[in-house]
Amino acid sequence: MEGLDLQELHSFAATLAIDAGSYLREQALARASRNPVNGQHYDLELEIKENSSDLLTKVDLHCEALISGAIQKRFPDHKIIGEESYSAGQDKRFLLTDDPTWIIDPLDGTVNFVHLFPTCCVSVGFCVNKKPVAGAIFAPLLNGLHATNASGSLYSAAEGLGSWSTPISFPFDPSVLTPPPTSSSASPPVPFHHAVPLPYLAPQPIPADAPKGCLFLAEWGKARSDAPSSNLTKKVNTLWNMAAEIGGRGGKGGMVHGMRSLGSAALDMVYVATGAVDIFWEGGCWEWDVCAGTIIVTEAGGRVVPSQPPAFLRDGDAIPDADLGSRLYLAIRPCASTEKETATEAQNRLIKEVWRRCENLDYVRSK
Ligand code: IPD
Repeated sequence: MEGLDLQELHSFAATLAIDAGSYLREQALARASRNPVNGQHYDLELEIKENSSDLLTKVDLHCEALISGAIQKRFPDHKIIGEESYSAGQDKRFLLTDDPTWIIDPLDGTVNFVHLFPTCCVSVGFCVNKKPVAGAIFAPLLNGLHATNASGSLYSAAEGLGSWSTPISFPFDPSVLTPPPTSSSASPPVPFHHAVPLPYLAPQPIPADAPKGCLFLAEWGKARSDAPSSNLTKKVNTLWNMAAEIGGRGGKGGMVHGMRSLGSAALDMVYVATGAVDIFWEGGCWEWDVCAGTIIVTEAGGRVVPSQPPAFLRDGDAIPDADLGSRLYLAIRPCASTEKETATEAQNRLIKEVWRRCENLDYVRSK
């Protein structure tokens, strides 16, 4: 990572996410306006990609152009992978190289945005050697759709610099994205005004009988085949295992506290980093959905690993990090060690408890 200034990359990612998120918010407000502009009501110019749950709007496209343009101007040598330019391209292989690369989802949770359900966001990640090292996620609609006195939530991280949650008000004052004067003695230094470190609470131990007692997030995704061997069927069986009473489902019942689906993998990962959610299990989403979230989770002290046991893994091997292009991700929250186990041992225990209950998914990348 020679020559890369992580502090600079962190605040640039945050600026991009807020600028693009402000645009999302303006578009949502324009849409909500009861007054036609030039006699015309707002048109999202909705298109269907793979199926009717896979949507594209003019907002996704414009937002990606906005982010890419700003990156090209500031870092002309860096590569860019964006959801919409990738989707429109012919080659669907994992195109990431070891070069410094921005991986962006201009609008994660497009379906939510279309419905004005608030969990949608901009996700801006930065990778080197295929590893996320900086990222920012901005969710501009979480506090409602108001033209005045409104605010949004920025989540961001960079390797070695911590993971942070920062309140952002509109109209946006860019000086918020500078270090507060009082932070000089903090370690790591507080990056932005009003930023608080993640997780919000001091890390808690993982319950001895986890996943019992855990909050579990998973997404239904966009693969909707009803066949008995389909990914959708396997996902539903896995969710059923996680929810069922202990002793149910042939011993796979996990009796989790609760199951949630937010419709945005990026925000799912944010809630793991905050410590609110114990487990996020997902198959089918893509590198732009999880790149920024991965560094936000890991800098908070959480783990991001494959959503099912890799075929190469032998007993006693260390559990590897998730491969960014694998479309299979499991995020586990930060946790405390106890007298009985270290934090890593506790996370490994929970990973294996999830793996024991999951049906192996098979998401391909077409050529
Ligand atoms: C989608 C969301 C969703 C996940 C899908 C993603 P998009 O992203 O993250 O939660 O289940 O797999 O594709 O298309 O709204 O950017």
